[in-house]
Amino acid sequence: MTFIPYDDRDGWIWMDGEFKPWREAKVHVLTHGLHYGSSIFEGERAYDGQIFESLLHTERLFRSAEILGMKPAFTVADIESAKAEAMARNGFENCYIRPVMWRGSEMMGVSAQQSTIRAAVAVWEWGNYFADKMSGIRMTHAKWRRPDPKTAPCEAKAAGLYMICTDSKHAAEAEGYADALMLDWRGHVAEATGANVFFIQDGAIHTPVPDCFLNGITRQTVIRLARDKGYEVVERTIMPEELGNFSECFITGTAAEVTPVKEIAGIHYQPGRVCEDMVHTYDALVRGKHA
Ligand SMILES: Cc1ncc(COP(=O)(O)O)c(C=O)c1O
Repeated sequence: MTFIPYDDRDGWIWMDGEFKPWREAKVHVLTHGLHYGSSIFEGERAYDGQIFESLLHTERLFRSAEILGMKPAFTVADIESAKAEAMARNGFENCYIRPVMWRGSEMMGVSAQQSTIRAAVAVWEWGNYFADKMSGIRMTHAKWRRPDPKTAPCEAKAAGLYMICTDSKHAAEAEGYADALMLDWRGHVAEATGANVFFIQDGAIHTPVPDCFLNGITRQTVIRLARDKGYEVVERTIMPEELGNFSECFITGTAAEVTPVKEIAGIHYQPGRVCEDMVHTYDALVRGKHA
């Protein structure tokens, strides 16, 4: 596969209040966000010119900032218009949107009280997150567990929390899997490395309680859609010993959308009626075609 590095592209990136040519949207190597993980971000998708749940994402960005004590110089309205203008300037109708905020370069120690909060919004065209999305992905168990909420700010979409996701995903990929299923610190089933997880048992949909991981916007959307369609949705503690009791499995996220899962570490699922229904119902909603 040929990669075009993200810093070797053309276009426009909104940065700290103005649009910069893509290649000039740079930060210095002595940046707090790079050294100490003091960065928060969002991941959004636009379909046919409309960002799905744009405001919810921007509000989550600001909630993440608040949780980490960051005081951005920009408002929700500023970021909303930056996202729309970034799409227009780059000429994208179907794309991924990445707002990010981080602590700048004024201070280079654990404390960064005087550092400015920097902000950027980039957009790019991004197809399926998983190459084999529709046939169902293969997952294995993750190397790391989601931390106790007392040890990390798990409600923030904070860059630092992704260290264990990237490492777990790399380990899974090294074994030929597409992703990894993370347990939480108690040993309960939690989520994938960048998506929430759902299981089907006797026609009902079961999903873990998001008490130590991101309660995804896609997760909440899929739960609402499923209930509207008459499915029973049960949010409960799910133990790894139960994985063999389910008939279908899928994961949800802005990037992953609704992706069927056909295996978790040797336990096989047959993506079937419920997976198909939720893939298509979510797709119709984000494209504005849901009844
Ligand atoms: C770790 C993690 N969990 C869950 C999600 C799903 O969140 P959302 O549906 O809001 O994209 C994401 C994606 O942002 C994620 O990175």
